[in-house]
Amino acid sequence: MIKNFKLLNNKTVFYFNDNKFETFPNIWLRDHIKNKENWDFKTNQRITYTANLDINIKVKKAKLLKKGKFIEILWSDENKPTKYSYEFLKKNSLKKEETKSDTQFWKDKDIKNQIFINYKQLQTKVGFKNLLKKIHIYGFAVVRNCSKNLNSVEYIAKKIGYVRNSIFGGLWTFESNNKKADSAYSNQELRPHTDSTYSNDAPGLQLLLCCKYDAKGGDSIMVDGFKLANEIKQKYKKHFKTLTNTKVKGSYIGDGVRLEAKRPIIKLNEKNNFDQISFNNYDRAPFRETNQKTINFYRAIKVFDTMANQKQYQWRHILKPGELLIFNNWRVMHGRGKFSGIRKMAGCYINKEDFDSCCRMNNII
Ligand SMILES: [Fe+2]
Repeated sequence: MIKNFKLLNNKTVFYFNDNKFETFPNIWLRDHIKNKENWDFKTNQRITYTANLDINIKVKKAKLLKKGKFIEILWSDENKPTKYSYEFLKKNSLKKEETKSDTQFWKDKDIKNQIFINYKQLQTKVGFKNLLKKIHIYGFAVVRNCSKNLNSVEYIAKKIGYVRNSIFGGLWTFESNNKKADSAYSNQELRPHTDSTYSNDAPGLQLLLCCKYDAKGGDSIMVDGFKLANEIKQKYKKHFKTLTNTKVKGSYIGDGVRLEAKRPIIKLNEKNNFDQISFNNYDRAPFRETNQKTINFYRAIKVFDTMANQKQYQWRHILKPGELLIFNNWRVMHGRGKFSGIRKMAGCYINKEDFDSCCRMNNII
């Protein structure tokens, strides 16, 4: 509850019943009025022309309502007072304690059966939420007993968001066959990487369904990029700095396009938490830094990529027909063990923002 308040020149101080207080600039409060003159309740959009407001706007009158559950403020440019709730002020506090994330960084030994879920379960609200939770906590999940065609891929993609179009199309199928000579059909081990380091907005989720497996090997590899980042942060401070500061260029050249993007291998958010891992040694394009920074960069990726290829960090699993692997391409690196024989896969991408939106709608984040 709001216990009291103090009006300053262009700021207002709120005193709360937990003995904390916080000062808000008046312009910020005025900009966040929610009444029908200032806010469109149908579209949830601001009507206020903020640029027209006086930066040093004053409060004409203010009083507490419902024992401090609300404060009512009359602004100098408004005719009617407006209400702000205690919750609203607390939610936007600079002193807000961060809620502990339930994300778990993992090594191979930490992953047991908790990442599996049955396709049928996704038809219930609880089951679907369970899938989102697994992806949120571990960065990946495996859906079992899917139909062995694009229908199940599309069904899951549409439940979360929509199929993302890319240079590879939307929904795709791919058959690896070692009888073909082209490198695209390579059966050698694909080391852990993230997709689309050449895209400014790399796909958020990747779905990979096994439709047919008549082969030896070819295990799917998952590596928790956040786990690697966290270990490097603790053990190799200098490398961590290099990996968070060096913007690495990725490129895709072919099929009539030349895509390029640049970002650090470990991207931090404004709170210095891990935001995104972008690592693809196959797609890295030439880029220059000073010679010393270049040497530092090679030292840092030596540590990072060596860890990514150590068994203790790799969860390996041969997908059976009907098993669909779904993973967060902003966190988990993927790879595939070498194999001989035939593997037919289907899949698609989903945008990160659509996955995040789906998690918010289901109260997961
Ligand atoms: Fe890939």
